[in-house]
Amino acid sequence: MNGKYEKETICIQSGWKPKNGEPRVLPIYQSTTFKYETSEQMGRLFDLEESGFFYTRLQNPTNEFVAQKICELEGGVAAMLTSSGQAANYYAVFNICEAGSHVVMSSTVYGGTFNLLMVTMKKMGIDCTVVDPDASEEELHKAFQDNTRCMLAETIANPALVVLDIEKFAKAAHAHQVPLIVDNTFATPINCRPFEWGADIVTHSTTKYMDGHAMCVGGAIVDSGNFDWGKYPGKYPGLCMPDDSYHGITYTEKFGKLAYITKATTQLMRDLGAAQSPQNAFLLNVGLETLHLRVPRHCENALAVASYLEKHEKVAWVNYPGLEGNRYYERAKKYMPDGICGVVSFGLKGGREAAAEMMDHLQLAAIVTHVADARTSILHPASHTHRQMNDQQLVEAGVAPDLIRLSVGIENKNDIIEDLKQALDKV
Ligand SMILES: Cc1ncc(COP(=O)(O)O)c(C=O)c1O
Repeated sequence: MNGKYEKETICIQSGWKPKNGEPRVLPIYQSTTFKYETSEQMGRLFDLEESGFFYTRLQNPTNEFVAQKICELEGGVAAMLTSSGQAANYYAVFNICEAGSHVVMSSTVYGGTFNLLMVTMKKMGIDCTVVDPDASEEELHKAFQDNTRCMLAETIANPALVVLDIEKFAKAAHAHQVPLIVDNTFATPINCRPFEWGADIVTHSTTKYMDGHAMCVGGAIVDSGNFDWGKYPGKYPGLCMPDDSYHGITYTEKFGKLAYITKATTQLMRDLGAAQSPQNAFLLNVGLETLHLRVPRHCENALAVASYLEKHEKVAWVNYPGLEGNRYYERAKKYMPDGICGVVSFGLKGGREAAAEMMDHLQLAAIVTHVADARTSILHPASHTHRQMNDQQLVEAGVAPDLIRLSVGIENKNDIIEDLKQALDKV
């Protein structure tokens, strides 16, 4: 939309723009493949001489329109959808890393991302050093090595709710000539656009607020177009040297600012195949159309719930960066002045056992392995999402064993509070 519209308009109107007589609503291109008149035409697509669709694993029109919308929301130059948030983070890193590479990662990232980097990608020969997101600039610098290829962190860490000092991380990454990849799942571009603060690549688990209704697992990667890969051919040979698996194409030469996403689409999707289904992309688009309405309501409700819990006699502590006195209050005001997210964490004076008991008494909030959808939900990460971590790793990830993660939905905030009240009364 040529950068001329605000985020609310982008949410509704961007992506699919029907021409005369075409459907008003984004069509689902429920087709694995696309037809061409001549074999030569199809050949040009395979040579990347022409852009077009030939097989849904690589690209599909429905997915493309939705990716364009997310791209505009983030203010990037190119984007792609993936089958999950896990696939988005995997591809975002693997697109510029190979055996022998090294990554610097914030210690408080989501448990699945932690595992991906520390276990699975380690088996692929990619090393990772974790850093405290609040480390000094000097400490951050020490984590980099000659073979470091990127830095990875979350705008708002799940579930520690650490607000990232994006400028500090971007400065450290750029001082070592590598890009900063930011997982912007919790903040969403409605509350924060990491590119405006120096991040180079943004990833999403679209499964969360973007979908918003807990219907589809999905992911997205957006490139700002700001990182000049071509300046460091020794570091990024996959982007700057001929790709033998694509007839010797050099992505940076042929695609300029689109090189990173083009490589991830044509090479990683081709070989690894974590494509999103067009049906899911359609539902994601429906979610995106109301993102700008839902996110502020999540934030308003979460602040009300956090303020209530803070005053409750059975509550030991509450962590929500929107509460005055929270460690990240000022930083959140800087990076996300309109709101933070709908997720609140807290602990009860009765510890782990009291947490489990209270959760069993809830009537409105459901115990589910999910956050960030319209319905209020609750989880105990040490028993669920983070159970693969030992106590030391839990502490490093900012997850206390008694931490309860409450994902505040967009129901009436008084009903959510009343539900918590009656459950706490029974503990
Ligand atoms: C911040 C963050 N990134 C990535 C993921 C992984 O996303 P998905 O579950 O869509 O694979 C999650 C999932 O909870 C998450 O919270």
